[in-house]
Amino acid sequence: MDVLEAIFTRRSIRKYTGAPVSEADLKTILKAGFCAPSAMNLQPRHFVVLKDSDILNKITEIHPYAEMLTQAGCGILVCGDRTKQSEIGYIVEDCSASIQNMLLAAHGLGLGAVWCGVYPREQRVNGISQLLKLPENIVPVGLVVVGHKDESKEPNDRYDETKVHFDKW
Ligand SMILES: Cc1cc2nc3c(=O)[nH]c(=O)nc-3n(C[C@H](O)[C@H](O)[C@H](O)COP(=O)(O)O)c2cc1C
Repeated sequence: MDVLEAIFTRRSIRKYTGAPVSEADLKTILKAGFCAPSAMNLQPRHFVVLKDSDILNKITEIHPYAEMLTQAGCGILVCGDRTKQSEIGYIVEDCSASIQNMLLAAHGLGLGAVWCGVYPREQRVNGISQLLKLPENIVPVGLVVVGHKDESKEPNDRYDETKVHFDKW
């Protein structure tokens, strides 16, 4: 899929067949995450691949808007390492760039995906950190749920001329 087609047709997918994501597709999605830009090229990101059904269930008990995770059967938690990047703002931006790359990669592979926000909600950050035994310096920023789609959605044209400014506001 052409990159612009991927950008313009990607949607959040919340219904899944439950068919497993292949190791090859998973690796491609992870590589897309690693490929994203990062402030000062510090690359402070870590990726936790989640497939264990018990863990997926527990995450849906912690995260109120990630119930599709169990049906999808796979999630990738994108985390930032505070020892590599001390500014939380950059951690969030670096992880978000990875997440968007991963959403587009999944879409390009014909899979569905949805971004489930974790940071800055303390209850989600603390709950997920405890569950997955994340080290102190690791901040979970967002969860990419990925799987085989069981719904299709029309592209959404959100271009809004009233929000585009040239040279000054
Ligand atoms: C920071 C962030 C957090 C989000 N968290 C959730 C979430 O917890 N659960 C969910 O179902 N969707 C979540 N979304 C997806 C948005 O709801 C979705 O992108 C938005 O409704 C637009 O729809 P689209 O992705 O199909 O274009 C999140 C998106 C972002 C950027």
